[in-house]
Amino acid sequence: MVRGILFIWTCCLLVSGCASRSDTLYVQMGGQQKIDEIVENFVYEIEFNSTILPFFADTDITRFSEKFAEQLCMFADGPCQYSGDTMEQVHGGMNITEAQFNLTVDLFIAAMNKAGVPHRLQNQLLSRMATTREQMLYK
Ligand code: HEM
Repeated sequence: MVRGILFIWTCCLLVSGCASRSDTLYVQMGGQQKIDEIVENFVYEIEFNSTILPFFADTDITRFSEKFAEQLCMFADGPCQYSGDTMEQVHGGMNITEAQFNLTVDLFIAAMNKAGVPHRLQNQLLSRMATTREQMLYK
């Protein structure tokens, strides 16, 4: 009897401690801490990329990190409200080409890889982000 209760208790602990596929993408990824880690890695990747870095020459990186993290959290169905500008407003005037866009996505993937985000979850996040692509290209 005692062993039975112990078994059920252990199972409950295990279940509540592990993210399951019915959890939001945000929870499955590891929550805010993981989002912040990805954003930090992404900024690092940008800093070392001579093609993408010039776009950020006049950018307030603290604001960028905050807004980008909010947006990722929102895409992942986390408990955040995106409070930044629209993608058209932000990227308008940059005339971003497809090659520059794809390179930025590669840097973002590298940031997720470094943070140990499983590829299945990366693909889910990327497909949600892809909806903004047309709002940024050649504007
Ligand atoms: C992968 C898709 C992308 C997403 C989801 C994205 C998202 C964002 C977000 C949320 C912000 C902050 C908005 C705000 O401050 O209100 C931002 C800013 C910025 N993004 Fe993107 N971005 C993407 C691709 C790109 C690309 C391809 C470039 C350039 C090659 C770029 C260059 C910038 C720059 C320079 C800023 C800062 C603008 C400023 O200083 O006000 N982004 N982006």
